[in-house]
Amino acid sequence: MTNERRCPVTQFDHHSTEHTENHVAIYRKLREESPVAWTEAHGGFWVLSDYASVYEASRNDDMFSSARHDEYGGPGLAVTIPKAPTEFHIPIEIDPPNSAPYRKLINKVTAPRTVENLEPMIKHYVTGIIDSVIETGEADLAIVAGVPAMVVIDWLGLDPSEYQTYVDAMHTLVSAAPDSAEYRHAADVSVPRVEETVRAHIRYRREHPGDDITTYFIQSEINGETMTDDEIYSILELIISGGVGTTASLVTQSLVWLYQNPDERTQLIEDPSMLDIALEEFLRVFSPTQALGRTVMEDAEFHGCPVRKGDRALLSWASANRDPEQFSDPDDVDITRWPNRHIAFGVGVHRCAGLYIAKALAREIFTQVFERMSDYVVDMENVVTYPDQGTNAGYHSIPVTFTPGERLLGQTPLFGEHYTKAS
Ligand code: HEM
Repeated sequence: MTNERRCPVTQFDHHSTEHTENHVAIYRKLREESPVAWTEAHGGFWVLSDYASVYEASRNDDMFSSARHDEYGGPGLAVTIPKAPTEFHIPIEIDPPNSAPYRKLINKVTAPRTVENLEPMIKHYVTGIIDSVIETGEADLAIVAGVPAMVVIDWLGLDPSEYQTYVDAMHTLVSAAPDSAEYRHAADVSVPRVEETVRAHIRYRREHPGDDITTYFIQSEINGETMTDDEIYSILELIISGGVGTTASLVTQSLVWLYQNPDERTQLIEDPSMLDIALEEFLRVFSPTQALGRTVMEDAEFHGCPVRKGDRALLSWASANRDPEQFSDPDDVDITRWPNRHIAFGVGVHRCAGLYIAKALAREIFTQVFERMSDYVVDMENVVTYPDQGTNAGYHSIPVTFTPGERLLGQTPLFGEHYTKAS
């Protein structure tokens, strides 16, 4: 591929240290100068950074495919750039119409009414995780980021007390620098371990059906046939990787911002009815999943640029969400902003399947932090952000102090015995 037909060409690498430190400014410059641009990083790809191009590409699955195309650049997760070394994921790596029956199954267990049934579990884990630090008056507030993992793992019927293994495998894979020891450990050790556990669980549930989502998928049919272990694994692994890191990213960024903006924090504490609208603004401005990729399927002119079959394209939800053409004063965080047509959950057929779960989790975490640790003070000198913010942005560590309070779970253990071990 030559540069001549790649105009405009830009220097852009969302996995670079510079990007991690300045992603808002870098995306702003891209939007202003070349909202569709070619970069040579990671073998070359198009960066789509304004709302119009990201929105249009997300809704054109024929031209911007989410499916794996190993013929272009070898195997790997199709929707990350560079491609992550993971198993095939259903349905995110299938284009319509074949993705539809899988998505229909997933929608049944992630619809608002079904998610209501998860609320007691969500409340239990948030209460328990805050209990674990509430008497001390100091903590790493990023511990609340463990709750999404506990809930998703429990929901699948896996052992929630092992949530940290899943966090290491799924979250570190996207938040550590690709050449770091943590990344290699996640890819080489934690991911295979999770795979072994989840596959064993699927086999066990075939023999011993339970009251969990894994059993639901085993008993469901796609086009009149039950699914193979590989298909079910592909779905479960996607739910785990989608569920574990993203909500953590949302709540850690929001909690730090709320410390820095005490007026808004007070407003939300005094009037919890404002929370749902504020949550949409946090999703817009912090865009936990910053950007995902596609493969171009035809030679065409796209927003003035000559895209070619086999090119990769990065769709930046984070940048689209700060496009002044769509949002007034986009860099201001306005917790009353409405309407708010952010695309933090994506657009089109692959729009996030877990968004109601994510919102229920975030709502409960904010509610309990406001009720139980309302005066938390963040030690900003010692917060630790993710080393790589190209895919997920957020904080690994948020040291805080607060007025100590009482534990609420009493004798109830954080992790009950209701799940069944597969082995
Ligand atoms: C704040 C939290 C979350 C954010 C920002 C987020 C973001 C996204 C985005 C941007 C996509 C679209 C991918 C694409 O178009 O290529 C997506 C898809 C998906 N997400 Fe989420 N997500 C969140 C939470 C969750 C949770 C909690 C779960 C599961 C429990 C989940 C499961 C999924 C699944 C299964 C897909 C694939 C849907 C499909 O391909 O049809 N997500 N998510």
